[in-house]
Amino acid sequence: MKIHRYPTLPSTNTLAKEMIREGAREGVILAQRQTAGRGRLGRSFFSENGLFMSIILAPERLHIPVALLTSAAAASVCRVLCDEGLEVGIKWVNDLFYENKKVCGILTEAVTLGETILGYVVGIGLNLGEDVFPEELQEIAGVLPLPLTRRDALAQAIALALAKTIESDTGELLSYLKEQSIVLGKEIRYFGASEGEGRAIDLDDEGGLVVLTAENERLTLKTGEISLRLKNS
Ligand code: BTN
Repeated sequence: MKIHRYPTLPSTNTLAKEMIREGAREGVILAQRQTAGRGRLGRSFFSENGLFMSIILAPERLHIPVALLTSAAAASVCRVLCDEGLEVGIKWVNDLFYENKKVCGILTEAVTLGETILGYVVGIGLNLGEDVFPEELQEIAGVLPLPLTRRDALAQAIALALAKTIESDTGELLSYLKEQSIVLGKEIRYFGASEGEGRAIDLDDEGGLVVLTAENERLTLKTGEISLRLKNS
């Protein structure tokens, strides 16, 4: 897969989406820095130091349900980082944690024309090198102990791992996601379409998070956001 490298871009996802609209069917955009990095739920993503990449996927490449694409990306990054000897875990649905801090975020977007899906963009941001976070992120954001010189090799390994994962067996992917989850079995708070507290107990076949609520009901979160609830907090 061709890698398009840039020192700085506003957002690799934005460029990848433009490329799909212009006819691109595959490719990887890789930047060292973003000036307008985008996160989920319309948030910005701090992108000063690290690996910021977007992978373009043609819809027919997906052999897994599209609902699992973000999870597939999380599993792929997790595999690559575990191969580096790092103990990372997946926080449903799009974050990777290392030593209790977020070190990776994933934003998956679709480009459509009318009813037709032209392509998917899987955007991945990994914090590498030095800790240069502003004060408000110091408590939550972490850096992987990998040098910035590994950026290119890691991006290639992640793109390859994702290519394999989207062609893999869904059952295998789900088992891996459950193994690497830092959320299952934990007390959580959930926000979004429904809000409340409960215990995360399982993933469904489309990667939805099954929660046993404080009211003892089973609820499946398809999207939205969770936070891990520390006892007494
Ligand atoms: C999140 O944590 O909410 C998701 C963050 C996704 C950030 C990546 S960095 C590469 C790609 N380009 C973007 O503008 N966003 C994604």
